[in-house]
Amino acid sequence: MNDKEGVRLQKVLAEAGIGSRRHCEELIGEGRVTVNGNTIFRFGERVDPQTAVIHVDGQRVETRSEMRYYAINKPLGVVSTMSDERGRKSLADFVDVPERLFHVGRLDTDTEGLILLTNDGELAHRLTHPSYGVFKTYLAEVHGPIPRDLSRRLRMGVELEDGPAKADDFKIFDQVGRRVLVEITLHEGRKHIVRRLLKEVGFPVQQLARIQFGPIKLASLKPGGMRALNVKEIGALYKAVGL
Ligand code: URA
Repeated sequence: MNDKEGVRLQKVLAEAGIGSRRHCEELIGEGRVTVNGNTIFRFGERVDPQTAVIHVDGQRVETRSEMRYYAINKPLGVVSTMSDERGRKSLADFVDVPERLFHVGRLDTDTEGLILLTNDGELAHRLTHPSYGVFKTYLAEVHGPIPRDLSRRLRMGVELEDGPAKADDFKIFDQVGRRVLVEITLHEGRKHIVRRLLKEVGFPVQQLARIQFGPIKLASLKPGGMRALNVKEIGALYKAVGL
């Protein structure tokens, strides 16, 4: 790209949400910014934000103006599709942006929690493809008490009707009487997998919520709420799937 075309790198970074132009100039000066794999030290460098692949500290910065990334907290009773031919409530009832978005994976209608929405087809594909093994964390309510060796059993794995399944992490999150909230992390997405896994070890799930998808946390997003992901979160998602 010659000196007339394109947009100055510090402007592109600032508009992507990295920080002020001054801060972005500092990052460039410190050799922390690469464009298409090459470290850039020149403040005047111009790039095409629609095609340049830009990283700061090794993390991808999305600069294509049309790309959208959101987190939504799917409420109970809502189907995980963008429309429902049977007229049930769907994700579209909670989306208040005009762009056409895909949902990244699904939750059961009776599961609430985090679903990512985007128009970035490649990222969505990788986030749901088993070969990328993206971690998802759930809170499940079960009836206690929980035996000491349950975590080990779940991490060792159990045999389900469609093959083996295991948790990557399992711990007790909270307990009130016999109602126990457990936190379970897996890196796969077969249908009803958390319910089936916990039922198999004798703890059928009473309520289920997804609280994390890869690096993205549900945090304080209320059921039915939607928020745009920030530039760091988008970079972390890219990193999780090797982009
Ligand atoms: N596992 C389940 O059992 N249900 C979900 O909705 C997601 C994971």
